[in-house]
Amino acid sequence: MTTASDRSLKDRAAEVMPGGVYGHLSTGKLSPNYPQFFAKAKGAHLWDVEGRKYLDFMCAFGPNLLGYGHDAVNAAYVDQLALGDVMTGPSPVAVELAETFVDMVDGVDWVLFCKNGNDATTAALMTARKHTGKATIVRAKGAYHGSAPWCALGDAGVGPHDQADQIFHRYNDVEDLERAVKQAGGDLAAIFVSPIKHDIIIDQELPDPAYARRARELCDETGALLVVDNVRAGFRLTRGCSWTAMGVTPDLSSWGKSLANGHALSALTGADVCKAAASQIFVTGSFWFAAAPMAAALVTLRILRETDYLEHTVRLAEKLRTGLHAAAQRHGFGLRQTGPAQIPLVTFEDDPELKLTNAWTGALVQRGVYFHPYHNMFFCAAMTEGDIDHALEQADGAFADIKG
Ligand SMILES: Cc1ncc(COP(=O)(O)O)c(C=O)c1O
Repeated sequence: MTTASDRSLKDRAAEVMPGGVYGHLSTGKLSPNYPQFFAKAKGAHLWDVEGRKYLDFMCAFGPNLLGYGHDAVNAAYVDQLALGDVMTGPSPVAVELAETFVDMVDGVDWVLFCKNGNDATTAALMTARKHTGKATIVRAKGAYHGSAPWCALGDAGVGPHDQADQIFHRYNDVEDLERAVKQAGGDLAAIFVSPIKHDIIIDQELPDPAYARRARELCDETGALLVVDNVRAGFRLTRGCSWTAMGVTPDLSSWGKSLANGHALSALTGADVCKAAASQIFVTGSFWFAAAPMAAALVTLRILRETDYLEHTVRLAEKLRTGLHAAAQRHGFGLRQTGPAQIPLVTFEDDPELKLTNAWTGALVQRGVYFHPYHNMFFCAAMTEGDIDHALEQADGAFADIKG
């Protein structure tokens, strides 16, 4: 709940930071019950600046996959920090991590490390343009790939040419994809897709295998590159590349968020076919080779390989989905629960303006369970059966709260 301290921090932030807290972490569009600032996080929980505890179903919008402050991951981070982090050259850990990635994920022959997801998606765009010598990209309407001018939301500060050479299509619509590719004529550099449709506000969609296969074929027919943007869903659907289960291997994939379980690291991975192009584009950053996040990522990837983190989160997520459905019905509400259970979007039926959804998630936050009304949520491996029971109990209470 917004408290005096939280309000005062928001006021102070507004004085010295543009818009106060900006971007996806801003609570500006949420119910006033949402705290803006957090003092600490551990496992599946957050504590606001008044010490109130929340079971967190946002997981920092994705980076928290194994649990906040994961002991083994953080020990590797701290050990590497003592040895050297940002240095005049990379640490050997960079090579070890790239080798690990290549061994672990099918279709990945090389890795280019960077910091944020947007660095990786931008490097994908540049690699595709260099590889093909063409400019146009086809991507899905409503899909988010970052905040650089080529993919920023809205037009504030975006120049008239920044988003030129882009053609949009409807996700999962084979005919519309074919139409967009045809419209690109001979100038197609890449088809960009997210592994699932995880746009904000509207229902999420799993990929239709026919759509995924057609995207691959169209790239093969035209010489364009297929880019799967795994920044948000990576390692949450499978331990490998998100479309491999459908028999579709992308040429390029972007990763970030959970790669180092909350430490700042992202990556563009690719197939041999476009390695030369990736080596010719100019991309770099002062902190891209920081060794401590890479040491954290090495441990994260080992844990992903060696534990049942994925099966565990899916099991808990399905329990929550089933329990929420039953609780909503008991109170006479209908819920729309879309997307994979472990990356869920939960809204109410017949609630186009999200009034009920906002009221319910606001009530849940007040009860110490952090749900989001219009962005997909995330599970982490630190959650327990007891946490889900607690969330269901509070969800039941929140349905009762909003009935009036
Ligand atoms: C699918 C996808 N791609 C790219 C990005 C950009 O990542 P970052 O915010 O780390 O720059 C995001 C961020 O939410 C994302 O969800």
